[in-house]
Order: sequence, then structure tokens, then C-alpha cells
Amino acid sequence: KVKRKPLVAANWKMNGDRALVEVFTNALNQKCFSGLDVVLCPPFPYLSLFNAETFSIGGQDISHLKNGAHTGDVSVAMLQEMNCKYVIVGHSERREHHGETNEIVAEKAHRAVSEGLIPIICVGESLEVRKEGFVERFITEQLQAVVSVMSADILQQCVIAYEPIWAIGSGETATPEQAQEVHAFIRGFLADYDEAMASRVRIIYGGSAKPSNATELFKQTDVDGGLIGGASLNTDDFIAICQAAI
Ligand code: G3P
Repeated sequence: KVKRKPLVAANWKMNGDRALVEVFTNALNQKCFSGLDVVLCPPFPYLSLFNAETFSIGGQDISHLKNGAHTGDVSVAMLQEMNCKYVIVGHSERREHHGETNEIVAEKAHRAVSEGLIPIICVGESLEVRKEGFVERFITEQLQAVVSVMSADILQQCVIAYEPIWAIGSGETATPEQAQEVHAFIRGFLADYDEAMASRVRIIYGGSAKPSNATELFKQTDVDGGLIGGASLNTDDFIAICQAAI
């Protein structure tokens, strides 16, 4: 397995409160995650409440626009001022509920990385697409939009998250083989563009990952960690998943 630093990110989605911020800050700061990047992505209002020592903070989304008249939006500069290092872009919930197209997601990723944040770019197919046998075609379209706005140098600083929509919050995790198959496809797609970049880019898995399946998933050749939803709201579960990635 090519050595890439694993990354485990918590996506709290629209969950959590001040009390949970405190519980997580205390629990994570007591741990030493050597050789692993740990990232917590809480809702925006909580970003400034973390006093993170052993982990990093990230946003769950950003605007693809610069500061200005965009009610309700948050810019890269604002996240940076809140000490964010990462930002999730193109989560399937944003694509589905907020009409984010492949092009908008690519713009968000590009803006994030060119202004100094590490984007975690989410891709992944619905059950319908999988049943029809179009997984590769679907993911190619999602990635093509990203690749067409970024140089290999820039792209290698990004993280890709493969999140099959049918596995998100459903309890139905992709098998390690299913995850590996798509991760290898993604890396292969990137390698056609630039081989060195493809071997360095981290590709993480998301979708009902939990302590009981994390070790097998993270063992796969092209799986470099995870993007965790439900199980990231419990410190014991989240820490166990982090430890499975080391
Ligand atoms: O971004 C993480 C995610 O969508 C996975 O959610 O709850 O299935 O771990 P969950």
C-alpha cells in the first residue's frame, strides 16, 4: 500500500450543541493521533467554540463566491478566520437539497484550495445508478468537473470522499470490496490525468462507517480513511474509528 497519511473526518451535519462541542474537545485533546489527521466538521455556529489541540476543524460547506451580497452563505475567508483547515464540498445532501451541480461543487473545491483550505470533495452514486450499472460513468462526470478546473499540483492537495448515497445513514455499509473497487476506479481516473498526483491524493470512504467495520474498510489498498456521519456524534465510536485508521 502506498504510504498516504490517513484522515478521519467527522461530519456532524445539522447535529450537536455546545455541550457536545465540549465533550468532543476534551475527549479528543486527551488522545494523540500520531500518523493520522483527525478533522471535526460541526455546524458553522460551533466552529469558534473548539479549542482543538490534537485535531483540526473544518466547515461542512462554503460558498463558491467571494464575500458580498449572498445572504446565508459563508466564505473561505470566514472559515479560515475560525481556524478551519478543511471544508467538505459537494456532499450528496447539499447536491440533493440545495441543487449543487458538479460545476458548482468544482468551483467550491477550487476556491477552497486556492485560498488555502483543504477541500474534502464528496462523490458517490444513488442506489438507482448502481442498479443500472452506471457507477463509473456517474462518478466520472462528478470528477471530470473537478479535474477540469484544477492543475494536478492543486488537485493533489485535495481529499476525495467516496460516499455511496445508498450507504449514508442507512446502516447499509458498502462492503470493503465494493469500497475498494470504486476507490481504485477513482484513483485510476486521476492517474490518467497525472500519475504522481493520483498516488498522493487521499480517498476516504463515507457511508454507515462504524467501529465494527472501519478496520476492514481502512485496510483496503485505496481507502485512506473515512468521512463519518452518525458514528461521529459519539466520542467512543469516533475515537475507535480513528484508531482503526492508524
Ligand atoms: O458525510 C458523512 C456521511 O454522509 C455518512 O453518514 O451517518 O452514514 O456515517 P453516516
